[in-house]
Amino acid sequence: MDIKLHIYEVNSLKTHVFSVDNFVDESLIYPQIVEAANFLRRDELVAFPTETVYGLGANAKSTAAVEKIFQAKGRPSDNPLIVHIASIEQLHEIACEIPDVAYTLMNHFWPGPLTMVLKKKEGISEKVTAGLDTVAVRMPAHPVALALIRASGLPIAAPSANRSGRPSPTIAKHVLDDLEGKIAAIVDGGATGIGVESTVVDCTQPVPVILRPGGVTKEEMEQIVGEVRIDPGLEEKEATPKSPGMKYTHYAPQAPLIVVKGSPSFLQTLIDKQKTEGKKVGVLTTEEQRHHYNADVVLTCGRRSDLSTVAHRLYDVLRQFDETDVDLIYSESFPSEGIGAAIMNRLMKAAGQQQIVEK
Ligand code: TXA
Ligand code: MG
Repeated sequence: MDIKLHIYEVNSLKTHVFSVDNFVDESLIYPQIVEAANFLRRDELVAFPTETVYGLGANAKSTAAVEKIFQAKGRPSDNPLIVHIASIEQLHEIACEIPDVAYTLMNHFWPGPLTMVLKKKEGISEKVTAGLDTVAVRMPAHPVALALIRASGLPIAAPSANRSGRPSPTIAKHVLDDLEGKIAAIVDGGATGIGVESTVVDCTQPVPVILRPGGVTKEEMEQIVGEVRIDPGLEEKEATPKSPGMKYTHYAPQAPLIVVKGSPSFLQTLIDKQKTEGKKVGVLTTEEQRHHYNADVVLTCGRRSDLSTVAHRLYDVLRQFDETDVDLIYSESFPSEGIGAAIMNRLMKAAGQQQIVEK
């Protein structure tokens, strides 16, 4: 009898890991970066560090390449991608009708954690923009990202390099945990800096509108361009957010997360109640307040007195809870000013908007 053996491999790719110094000198050519860029030129996926989080890059001109992003991430196809560029010449290849306010913003914040939504030009894949007539563009402030984009000679579509719904990756290990075997390569440039994603701002209207709070704060933008609005869909539960990605539950650890707005003693009463019901409880706190809590797992993400440290640590801490056996997680709440706006936006999304407020 003729028996044929079929072996189906789900994760069939060998993921190449290229290690580079986080502070590569942009004027030099690094063989690892050239090799990684060659994968991009062959329409393969390459994860790379940016100053916000790791991105999962693909040739933005190739539909075949961009489709691989959606497949590897398990990302809904109606959620458009950010195109990453390394020069203003590249901007003019993909966007048109660029208003003065956008030039003012890019002069101040590029390279940096600001993504601008602009009128789209032909040339990049329809899959990148999910059929919209606008395109989101940013120039990242990370030498490895810039060197990789330059070496590829391409505009690079790149969402955060996590499986859809998981916290965004801030170190290479997070990327490999989610995507090893599903992507051709990763450039490991160490930990990312800011820790939360870029600010997405719609620049197709006279007054810029923030669609997603992030690394550049509303206050910083207002100092440069005057009035800046916030998409009402971000703040009211009933309205639909204009940035398609904002409607999905995101960044979530496996155990349910609840944000608690109140004093540490109030939070401790919630913990005690769960414990009497036999639940294992995790707490997400800060250096200043950790000593207040008696719970099964107490993890800190930075210092309340410097919220940039909280942004930097947040996603890693959410992932660390997945390595514990807690049944639920309570998180402290943070002020919504400055970078706090991005922190609270991500925390509330991770919590599926579940919040308990002390009366
Ligand atoms: O910091 C970041 O922005 C990271 C790094 C890798 O650059 N990237 C990132 O990409 O966070 P992603 O795909 O996770 O988030 C992109 C966000 C989504 O909320 C998406 O809906 C929105 O940008 N977006 C993309 N194109 C858009 C468009 N044309 N109009 C409105 N929103 C858009
Ligand atoms: Mg993302």
